[in-house]
Amino acid sequence: MKLWGGRFTKPTNQLVDEYTASIHFDKKLATYDIKGSLAHVAMLEKCAILSEGDAKEITAGLKIVLEKINNGEAVLSEEQEDIHMNVEKLLIDEIGPVGGKLHTGRSRNDQVALDMRLYLRDALMDISQLVANLQGALLEQAKKNIDTVLPGYTHLQRAQPVLFSHHMLAYVFMLQRDVERLGDSWKRVNKSPLGAGALAGTTFGIDREFVADQLGFDGICENSLDAVSDRDFVVEFLGNAALISTHLSRLCEELVQWSSAEFNFIELDDAFCTGSSMMPQKKNPDVAELVRGKTGRIYGNLIGMLTTLKGLPLAYNKDMQEDKEGMFDTVETLKGALALFAPMMETMHVKKENMYEAVRNDFSNATDLADYLVGKGMAFRESHAVVGEIVLHCIQHNKYLLDMKLEEIIGFSSIIEEDVFDFLTPEAVVNARNVAGGTAKNRVEEQISKAEKNLKETENRLAEWAEQIN
Ligand code: ARG
Repeated sequence: MKLWGGRFTKPTNQLVDEYTASIHFDKKLATYDIKGSLAHVAMLEKCAILSEGDAKEITAGLKIVLEKINNGEAVLSEEQEDIHMNVEKLLIDEIGPVGGKLHTGRSRNDQVALDMRLYLRDALMDISQLVANLQGALLEQAKKNIDTVLPGYTHLQRAQPVLFSHHMLAYVFMLQRDVERLGDSWKRVNKSPLGAGALAGTTFGIDREFVADQLGFDGICENSLDAVSDRDFVVEFLGNAALISTHLSRLCEELVQWSSAEFNFIELDDAFCTGSSMMPQKKNPDVAELVRGKTGRIYGNLIGMLTTLKGLPLAYNKDMQEDKEGMFDTVETLKGALALFAPMMETMHVKKENMYEAVRNDFSNATDLADYLVGKGMAFRESHAVVGEIVLHCIQHNKYLLDMKLEEIIGFSSIIEEDVFDFLTPEAVVNARNVAGGTAKNRVEEQISKAEKNLKETENRLAEWAEQIN
């Protein structure tokens, strides 16, 4: 028998039951659903809509139902469609008809919106923490490699040398914006829709603020129609998750390249690689590849949610049940990637000598030679042309700038002096970029301090959230 069966004369077609049920995925919301119901009952009692005795019974019953769901004793049925009806049915089975009073002044529409927000708050906390952990691991590599020089690339062509720590910090700052975006979205997620009813509010004298307060919300959704039909907080999360994935995926691509024999700049720890079933010599960066690959489904979940919403009239429509699987999938996919990524980065071996060799055997100090000539009074456009000729000469004679003799290089411009070679070593080239945000060692150290400060702020924010919602 359906809880809403009163106006029906026939049982539901079994295929309809199967097709419309969401219990096989929204059972993930059980804890949140019951948490919301406990707050709702407390409010009904406070507003004298439920008697103290009824409220006590329902509260105790809900706690038993939660326990039974958690320990697997409760049977969740497709016939009861979703987690909300299942919990209510289990409650009535547990404590009798008084359980039927739980749903007073409430609809599944505001209830499900509430559950989604409660779920997402935890996800925001977990994911922010995991991103911060990854930032911490990258920061450690940055500190360990404060003197490691790496070719910097544009167009995947060697461009100018940079400190490896500078490169790691680029990701730390990307992820910082990601954490801040999650933090900013919190204030839009952390609003209570409960009390919006099916769409228009409720005839009972409820206290929405009281419920919001108990559940650690910053306030209530101001418009009941919007409260039940808004899923932009889900879209926003999926969008933020997509950006995190983009950032991870770019790093993955670099890890894959760097660990190839062609680059040979890093070695990922054996514990984070896999072998080939046929080729005994292989050690593959599968984790990095798979994180890169899973970016596709995370983008897909975002586009899916946007598309589901685009044609919906106000207020609730059953289409909106499609909000869950994509969100769960994104949360789980992202958590999985982030949890692996931090230790993978922590244990990554950096082949400093190979990076140095790549910088040394290259023309990535050519800009510095041009800048040197400018320092001696030549116009940059002219120095650019002169250095171009010098590079061509070197290519034709199979050597690099630092291999040239003074007499040889002076032939291209008489203003060049002996000190030129001091300007062209990898260390000098890096440290000459002594501008805020540049790759000079002292500037990278400034970035490390800033990144550490950011991490502390994240920690504080997460502690505040935890306190607020518990
Ligand atoms: N399972 C539904 C969902 O996830 C709950 C809300 C159903 N509301 C309704 N009026 N049928 O969206």
